[in-house]
Parts: sequence; structure tokens; C-alpha cells
Amino acid sequence: MKRQAWQRMSTFHCRSSIAYCRVSSARSIVLIGFMGTGKSLVGKVLEQRTGFRRFDTDEIISSKLRMPIEKIFSTHGEKHFRELETETLLSLPTEEPTIIVTGGGIVLRSENIDLLKGLGAVVWLDADEATLRTRIDRLSDRPLLQTANPEATLSELLEARQPLYRSAADLRVDISQKNPEQIAELILKNISDFPVGE
Ligand code: S3P
Repeated sequence: MKRQAWQRMSTFHCRSSIAYCRVSSARSIVLIGFMGTGKSLVGKVLEQRTGFRRFDTDEIISSKLRMPIEKIFSTHGEKHFRELETETLLSLPTEEPTIIVTGGGIVLRSENIDLLKGLGAVVWLDADEATLRTRIDRLSDRPLLQTANPEATLSELLEARQPLYRSAADLRVDISQKNPEQIAELILKNISDFPVGE
């Protein structure tokens, strides 16, 4: 496979619809964002497009404990799940470029934000609340939305997390009205558009 220019770079510029930024040591592409933004599917498309190995923190934790995420929350609690997220980030390979998919709450620990930044270019998949609401069509699957008023909980979580995603991200991509292929394309294009020295 022919290596793209951005794969060879240790430092490059990237561009998003809202901001220009400089990305350092971007070996891997790290996807963050609220639940329902399609991180897993976009990660799979990026895996196919780049040929890089894909690591999904939820999948890793779930297979390690041999139980679905909801069960981990109900059996071990959220705090333990958050510890496992940090442990998983620390276990990811750093000697090769990869695609890293994370759970929506990974940014809640500041040490995770540092770890994510160290792993590569952090890409925030984002959408407005109305779009997210319609995308999270199976609210019952999400342990954090098992409340008396899931819609209000979603609003609260979103408000609390937006600043964290913003602080972690090198690039923000608005996913509204785009399919996973279009989102992956946008990510690769924005990363590769700005070579070193430009
Ligand atoms: C969580 C999001 C989930 C999963 C867990 C906690 C969160 O992943 O990690 O249920 O705190 O937002 P997705 O973002 O893939 O739904």
C-alpha cells in the first residue's frame, strides 16, 4: 500500500470547519465524541481506508471482562469502568499508526485527555443536540441514560462534556447529515491537506 504523505509525518497541520490547528506526533487517528456520533462505524471505515489496525476501547474492555458494557456498569460501577478505560489507553501500541475508537466518556478523566493527545491526532465527531437525540434511537442500550428522564440526562451530559471534547480535540468534524464514508473521507482530507512547512 502506498503511504500517504501524512502517514510519514511527525508533525502536520489540519483543518476543520471551525478551526485551524497544528497536530503533533500524529501517528494514530483517535476518535472521540458523544455517544451516537458514529465513532465505531467511522473507525471501521478508517481502518479499511488506511490499512491501520483499529482499537476500540469499549470492545477491548468488554472482551477483557467478557461482558457487555451495560453489565460492566451494573456489576462493577462507572468508576471501575473509567479505570479500565485509562488502563486500556495505556495498553495501546505506540510504535505503529492505528485507528483508536473511544467511548463517549473517555474525556472525563484529565489524564485520559493527555494520553489521547499523546497517541495521535484527536478527532472530535460532533453534532447539535437535536441531531444526537435522533441518532441515539436506542436509549435503553446506554447505561448512563437509564434515568427517569433520559432526554434531560442527555442534555446535562452533553453540556458537561462539550468543553472536554473541545479541549482534547485537534480537529472537530460536524457529522450531521453525513454517512460514515463521508465522515472518514473528511477526516483523511483535513489531515492530509496541510503538509509540514505549509
Ligand atoms: C459512555 C459511552 C459508551 C460507553 C459507555 C459510557 C459514556 O460508548 O463507553 O456506555 O460515558 O458516554 P459510546 O460513546 O460508543 O456509546
